[in-house]
Amino acid sequence: MSKQRVTRRQFLNYTLTGVGGFMAAGMLMPMVRFAVDPVLKHNPAGDFIVTDKKISDITNEPVRVDFSFEQQDAWYTAEVTNTAWVYKDDKGEIVALSPVCKHLGCTVDWNTDKANPEHFFCPCHNGLYTKDGTNVPGTPPSAPLDVYPYKEVDGYLALGKAAPRKEA
Ligand code: FES
Repeated sequence: MSKQRVTRRQFLNYTLTGVGGFMAAGMLMPMVRFAVDPVLKHNPAGDFIVTDKKISDITNEPVRVDFSFEQQDAWYTAEVTNTAWVYKDDKGEIVALSPVCKHLGCTVDWNTDKANPEHFFCPCHNGLYTKDGTNVPGTPPSAPLDVYPYKEVDGYLALGKAAPRKEA
């Protein structure tokens, strides 16, 4: 049976490696935590932003609803304002449309073109959309307006991220 002895040099190597590793981990852990912190943060409101529009105030006439939220980009936070055109359709369902024209991104308005009443109108290149956001053939936009998902939060309208219509 052989007895393995640890030399003084080996003992110092093991000890210094262990202590050095422990100190390095102590310094690196806060840096790693800081680097991934924005990813770990939980948004209790989910992806929906509560607007100041009461559900009970929404009629069948489209109205412009502005809503602001803080957008986090890593450690930089910016206040962003978005807009939706909101109304109730014939079935009483809420419709929330993006105002961003699908041609080149100008902002559409409701009922501002005298020649085409009751339409969304884009003044940049005379783009037209019907009330449900469908692009009118023969005008520049090639797709319907994006639609916001919505939900009710304590009687107020909350909007999610606008997305293209499913059949678009
Ligand atoms: S950007 Fe709207 S029609 Fe061109």
